[in-house]
Amino acid sequence: MSSRQVPQPLGEVLVSADDLQRRVRELGAEISRDYAGRELLLICVLKGAVLFLSDLMRAIETPCQVDFMAVASYGSATDSSGVVRIMKDLDAPIAGREVLIVEDIVDSGLTLQYLMRSLGARDPASLDVCALLTKPARRKVDLPTRYVGFEIADRFAIGYGLDFGERYRNLPFVAALADN
Ligand code: IMP
Ligand code: MG
Repeated sequence: MSSRQVPQPLGEVLVSADDLQRRVRELGAEISRDYAGRELLLICVLKGAVLFLSDLMRAIETPCQVDFMAVASYGSATDSSGVVRIMKDLDAPIAGREVLIVEDIVDSGLTLQYLMRSLGARDPASLDVCALLTKPARRKVDLPTRYVGFEIADRFAIGYGLDFGERYRNLPFVAALADN
């Protein structure tokens, strides 16, 4: 690891920077094969998926476009309630498009369930999910996540886009928040 200052609440590293980069390249290759000959629309869920998106799209060789959506889910700092509000909607319609939602982490699954319903109602040609991380132990709803980077234990994760109180998104690896 570099000499970067490590913040106080950092617990153990859950996914190293090398493992992240290797897995993102694998996902990019898999997506490139699956969508060969079709033009993909990547929908990045702000803000957590920004780092993942930027690495993933460089690993995708098929033509692709990108759009952004921001959602807020009511709840505590570490638990979402499933009541989701769209803070920023897509710039363009998605009817007839091959859509892949790029998410940072699937926890309860409630945010993604809401997104799948909301985007599914806009008549895309296809609608799938690529999530960097998943916490299966926390899942409350069953969701078809076509591409998943890593399954992690039931710990609150920070880094590589994931925040705790808007901090730590810039860490190049994923770590657990200390003492949780
Ligand atoms: P869900 O609705 O419970 O699946 O949670 C979805 C959102 O909560 C994710 O897109 C993240 O923004 C956030 N979230 C869930 N778990 C974590 C975590 O361990 N670290 C940081 N953010 C998380
Ligand atoms: Mg978040």
